[in-house]
Amino acid sequence: MARRPLIAANWKMNKTIAEARGFCEQLLPDVEELGPDGAEVVVCPPYLALPLVAQLCEGSDVGVAAQNMYFEDSGAFTGEVSAAMLLDAGADGVVLGHSERRQLFGETDGGLAKKVPAALAAGLLPILCVGESEGERERGETEEVLRRQVEADLAEVADEALGGIVIAYEPIWAIGTGKTATAEQANDASAFIRSLVAARNTEAGDLIRIQYGGSVKPANAAELLGQSDIDGALVGGASLDPEDFAAIVTAA
Ligand code: PGA
Repeated sequence: MARRPLIAANWKMNKTIAEARGFCEQLLPDVEELGPDGAEVVVCPPYLALPLVAQLCEGSDVGVAAQNMYFEDSGAFTGEVSAAMLLDAGADGVVLGHSERRQLFGETDGGLAKKVPAALAAGLLPILCVGESEGERERGETEEVLRRQVEADLAEVADEALGGIVIAYEPIWAIGTGKTATAEQANDASAFIRSLVAARNTEAGDLIRIQYGGSVKPANAAELLGQSDIDGALVGGASLDPEDFAAIVTAA
């Protein structure tokens, strides 16, 4: 089963609207040059830059995703945005459950169990992040943590719909630390996540794309992306520079 790799630029809380414009103007010609046989590319800007990025990427091979959303359609939820609002702003997808949201902003598996189906129902591609902490890996709990997150966060998604989501395996100890998981560690965890999905629906297990995230750079991208069960990357720090990000897309 050939899965098209998905390379996503997670800008986190970086870039003004003007900086987002500069980035797109530099990146788009590079992606264009790679053509439709290259990896699928998604940029995940902060909310405020999202409409502009969507406008600039329209008609190109680059998609746009938000970094979070709330599961309700509308109402008294100060500070939140809905799936419908993201679609209206031009988003194609949404990152859900990033470890920074889980650790710093109280994101729970219970909330994610509602967010993933809400994104799917709206027609947004959910990119669900899962991953263990350093202590959990040292204690040999990696698979237990991944199983708990995948089972809980996808509990309300129909088995046949699982193939249409993306899961990003992001070991927390590798995010923004410069410490990358070895290609073998990353591939083993991705294969394990795929087996959890396949246990619910065999075809979905073949279809679902599993990204690796955590200190992906131009220098290590080819090795990570060459693994059998890794179908792309969620890139943080190295996605802020259009040249570095384009090099990662090229490696894919
Ligand atoms: P990093 O971040 O590439 O800076 O490690 C990855 C992520 O948090 O998605």
